[in-house]
Amino acid sequence: MNLLRTVGVAAMVSVAFPGCKQRPQRGTEAIRGAAIYMEKCAVCHGQDGLSPLPSCPPLRDSEWLAGRNEPLIAIVLDGLRGPLVVKGNTYNGLMPAWRDVLSDEEIASVLNFLRLQWSTSDKLISASETAELRKKTKMRQTFWTDSELREAWNAAETESVDSALKPGK
Ligand code: HEC
Repeated sequence: MNLLRTVGVAAMVSVAFPGCKQRPQRGTEAIRGAAIYMEKCAVCHGQDGLSPLPSCPPLRDSEWLAGRNEPLIAIVLDGLRGPLVVKGNTYNGLMPAWRDVLSDEEIASVLNFLRLQWSTSDKLISASETAELRKKTKMRQTFWTDSELREAWNAAETESVDSALKPGK
């Protein structure tokens, strides 16, 4: 992508996402992820990440975004059903699965976009990490639940999972 185009797209992205943080060094990743977000996710989670629908949790400042990579990747791969606590509110919604729709690169990019725009974490997620989790969970044919996600990633690092996923943190 040449420079002029990059700058043009970056300007469009900050118009489309008024709450965008300006982090030019991560610009390319944000641009790629923003396009996917607009197409696949914004309908439920809102262009500003604040989710216009009462059944959908906000992504902006969500504790899930601030937490570990694995649960986030898992949520996008196979979807999620409530009850789920985000920022102190309980949601009983259904998030669709994207396993057969989005590639590993696309899942990594859209999650990196969310992290860079709406979370204090700027830990990036890689396509290879996504591919690995896709393989590990390939027998899974149903939505995740909050308790399953906690259980699946509690064993290795109990403390960090607990504090990363604790509601209201
Ligand atoms: C059809 C509406 C819908 C679409 C489209 C959708 N989601 Fe969700 N999403 C939900 C709902 C509903 C929940 C909460 C489910 C629950 O109640 O357990 C959720 C939860 C989440 C969560 C965890 C909770 C939070 O607020 O942090 C993340 C992260 C997430 N979605 C990311 C995405 C991404 C990325 C996409 C696009 C690839 C996407 N969603 C597309 C409805 C949707």
